[in-house]
Amino acid sequence: MNKEQIFEKLWQIYATQNPSVQRIHDLFVASGEVVYNDHIAFRTFNDPRINIEVLAKPFLKAGYVERGEYVFEEKKLFAKHYEHTTDPLAPRVFISELKVEEFSDFLQTTVKAAIDQIPEDMLTSDELIFSGNLWGTPSFETYETLRQESEYAGWLYVYGFCANHFTVSVNGLKNLNSMEKVNSFLKKNGFQMNDSGGEIKGTPAELLEQSSIKSEMIPVDFEEGSFEIPGCYYEFARRYADSDGQLYSGFIAKSADKIFESTNFYAKQ
Ligand code: NI
Repeated sequence: MNKEQIFEKLWQIYATQNPSVQRIHDLFVASGEVVYNDHIAFRTFNDPRINIEVLAKPFLKAGYVERGEYVFEEKKLFAKHYEHTTDPLAPRVFISELKVEEFSDFLQTTVKAAIDQIPEDMLTSDELIFSGNLWGTPSFETYETLRQESEYAGWLYVYGFCANHFTVSVNGLKNLNSMEKVNSFLKKNGFQMNDSGGEIKGTPAELLEQSSIKSEMIPVDFEEGSFEIPGCYYEFARRYADSDGQLYSGFIAKSADKIFESTNFYAKQ
């Protein structure tokens, strides 16, 4: 699969499951903007069967290389980002993994049991990144217990392998060319911003500003019935040039730490 096919397929799944992200995309287009994708992100567990290295495989085959590593102490995550070798407009790929061994026995056992359910041939398939939850209908009670320890673990237990977010490149926008303009455009259209750590994470001095909407609450079928929980979110990023005039291409762990909270459970307004 080439990179265009990969991103198209990921987008279709993401936009179908989360209607608000398609609506936001269409609002930008309707206001005359061209939407470029700065990066996409995946979540996974650090089990060697499905860790970062496993999810990165289809991207390496499509011409990507590893470019950065990030540690999130409090959330107990490790992440890497990948860039395409020849196409500077290709979206970056950010993959994080939860350090399962640093959590409770309950979380460790639940995660291992879930991964044990994945059919063997999927573990080596390039389709893994599109395959969602491969461990069957989730239990709402398990989801609730997991997310008390780690919202990330709860989210991943329900949704599995899919793009957790796409990211509008604010550098690529003509009129909505600042984070402030983008955020007020979204709020005017009824979307809720993730304001953990402020609506805008990062500063021009840090060479990267980011914001995101809170994940839409979407109905999910659990063993116990249908419940609304946070799905995926849309992110917005503006990059700045460094002292050599090169556009900064990495990520800021301190900002990403707060962006992760876009999938936190919240009371629907
Ligand atoms: Ni992101």
